[in-house]
Amino acid sequence: MRRLHFPEGFLWGASTSGHQIEGNNTNSDWWAFEHSTRREEELRDEGKDPQNYYSGIACDSYNRFDEDFSLAEHLNQNATRIGIEWARIEPKEGEFSEKELDHYEKVLQSAKAHGLQTFVTLHHYGNPMWLAKKGAFLNEETVDLFARYASKVADRLGQYTDFWLTINEPEVYASHASLFAKFPPRAMNIRKTFKVVNNLIAAHNKAAAILRQKTRKPVSMAYQLTDLEPAGFFGHFTHMLAEYFMNSYILSRTVHACDFIGVNYYFHHHIGFWGLRNHSHSQHEETDLGWGIHPEGLERLLLKLKKYNKPLYITENGIADARDAKREKFIKDHLVSVHKAIGQGADVRGYLYWSLIDNFEWLQGFGPRFGLIEIDREDLLRRKVRYSATKFAEVCRNNYLEA
Ligand code: BGC
Repeated sequence: MRRLHFPEGFLWGASTSGHQIEGNNTNSDWWAFEHSTRREEELRDEGKDPQNYYSGIACDSYNRFDEDFSLAEHLNQNATRIGIEWARIEPKEGEFSEKELDHYEKVLQSAKAHGLQTFVTLHHYGNPMWLAKKGAFLNEETVDLFARYASKVADRLGQYTDFWLTINEPEVYASHASLFAKFPPRAMNIRKTFKVVNNLIAAHNKAAAILRQKTRKPVSMAYQLTDLEPAGFFGHFTHMLAEYFMNSYILSRTVHACDFIGVNYYFHHHIGFWGLRNHSHSQHEETDLGWGIHPEGLERLLLKLKKYNKPLYITENGIADARDAKREKFIKDHLVSVHKAIGQGADVRGYLYWSLIDNFEWLQGFGPRFGLIEIDREDLLRRKVRYSATKFAEVCRNNYLEA
């Protein structure tokens, strides 16, 4: 057994997002999407019960946030990532809700009282309904509207925020909302996708300057970066293209406006001449969602990011594993990868597991179980700490991993 030590002051924690845990986020376009007739009919056609695909009360973390942070503290975590909901803070265009700002102030005060450094995400897939009606990020005006929202949040919540994440996974949001017709507003249009991408870039760059200037706290996006490996001679060309569009297009246009890089890592792909070859090599272990598990990819990715000379934080990395049979090893193997990257000069300063608690998994509803903590949906959303969480807690306490 070797002890793999992590740098002093390393941040250990777990991530969540507003819509996925809070419950009753009724002013959001996601709420409307979940309740739309089209969505309900599609689910029924697939033999699924729409009841299982409404976020509803989610984990009731809108009310139970202190309990959640208290559990994080008991698991020796020293950091947390939360999302705040634009749809709550600005329920009508230009009208900011003091009540909801007070609420998030209490949430962040509670995180601080439990000894957690805070990463705060301003946009995690969902939009206020009024903004959705204007086309959300398809509309250039949204760049200024997002900056105004960020400015308001900076004034009110800046003192409790240690790290800002402007927008979660702009690549996933843009592609799923505008190209693959999966997320609201379910468009399928390449020209629109580029427009959305470019507005997301502009929105980040503008908001980041405001957040930094007003709060002096570091800012990034939470980028979903994918480990892409060329397969075969002809795969090299496709690989370059995929690398550009999946990983670098947005990053290279926003990284100058980042003080650190937030990395969400889930996927490794083999790229052949004909494009992506599913999620991974077939011999890899899979998560409950059928995603291949490929910890080595994280090391490769972190090393590629060295060239930007910015601190790196893993803002998401996690596994859907209802039986908790693979999570301990999953975390361990990914941490070995992080440690190797640090040994080769990558300036990684924190690891936030996705997710602290089981939550509403967007298109898949409550089925997938990503949590370190189980939410018992049959027993009043009771929180139950999983075994893997206690193993991760040892690493968080020791600041080293036994491997
Ligand atoms: C998203 C999360 C989501 C997780 C698992 C990430 O891409 O940011 O909201 O729950 O993946 O699918």
